[in-house]
Amino acid sequence: MERTLVLLKPDALQRGLIGRIITRFEEKGLKIIGLKMMKMPPALAKEHYAHLTSKPFYPGLEQFMTHNPIVAMCVEGVEAVEATRSIVGATNARKAGAGTIRGDFSMSTSRNVIHASDSLETAKKEVARFFREGELFAYPSVLNGYFYAEDELE
Ligand code: PPS
Repeated sequence: MERTLVLLKPDALQRGLIGRIITRFEEKGLKIIGLKMMKMPPALAKEHYAHLTSKPFYPGLEQFMTHNPIVAMCVEGVEAVEATRSIVGATNARKAGAGTIRGDFSMSTSRNVIHASDSLETAKKEVARFFREGELFAYPSVLNGYFYAEDELE
């Protein structure tokens, strides 16, 4: 089982999309084990986007991500990092595939409604950045046997 971080960006909240986006994770079978609304402090944005602070678009990115609340989610599943990235779609939402969250709900590289960790290594750091251990819930799911065959859970 892997865990990965998903952020529903301020545009998703303002546009009333959070329910529909969360539904996509539930329908896919990615288990939500952490969920909270928060206003991202600028220091957290700088840490989260440290690899982008030298880019010309960074000031706008920080302003956008901190000006209104976001929803942070931790989702769990077999190969959850890759499965999440594939339902999220490409960063440039104009080029994101139809059926992906960005492909269906946005038209921008910045107002692209959702963030998802890009590798397992990054996911571990990003989950720990947004959630304390007590905010994550390892509850049993009776549906595991319907979302996965036994050999996939080994
Ligand atoms: S890169 O540099 O394009 O490979 O960056 P990537 O790691 O894919 O993600 C870039 C994040 O910055 C947000 N953002 C922009 N990207 C590109 N161009 C512009 N102008 C821009 N403005 C904001 C983009 O939405 C990505 O955010 P996250 O939260 O990682 O999805």
